[in-house]
Amino acid sequence: MDDDPGITAVAEVPTDSTMLVTLERIETGETLEAILTRLGDGSVVAFKNQCQHWTDVQLDRGSGAAIRDGQVLCRKHGAAFQLESGYCDFGPCEGSTLVTVETAVEDETVRLTDRDYAFVKTGGLDRDPDDLSSGGRIGFWVGVSRWPRVVWLGLWVERGFGPSSPRQTTVLLSARRV
Ligand code: FES
Repeated sequence: MDDDPGITAVAEVPTDSTMLVTLERIETGETLEAILTRLGDGSVVAFKNQCQHWTDVQLDRGSGAAIRDGQVLCRKHGAAFQLESGYCDFGPCEGSTLVTVETAVEDETVRLTDRDYAFVKTGGLDRDPDDLSSGGRIGFWVGVSRWPRVVWLGLWVERGFGPSSPRQTTVLLSARRV
């Protein structure tokens, strides 16, 4: 590791948020993002930057992930993952675990020790900020009102990949009295 400059100085890794880095999967050449955060004991943990509910949703969208009470939170639907283990103990993917990227602290430097990846740079993947094609979803919703008794059928479309929250549009398709 003598020539390895490492990922970053430990002191640069936040304790109340995350640092975004870009890695390359050695086997495929695919680039991906990981998030780093520093624990109270000075150690650093790293995970792939993806929620385990919808894996195309990033925990850190470029301005740091939300961290509260020792957990990293997904802003999308509120899943909470323990920082020490990545285990989700609250939310729609409860029981799942974030994908760990192995790192070690040595000489006040965070080093990548995971042999599956190579460090590319600090910061995230280069994206087109106008590209709203990723992370889009579509679905139906049904609602029933008690009185008058009406069944509503609608469509929701969610788009957005940028630093702001995804945008959701709902469209009413039909409303029928029953
Ligand atoms: S996408 Fe993260 S909780 Fe749903």
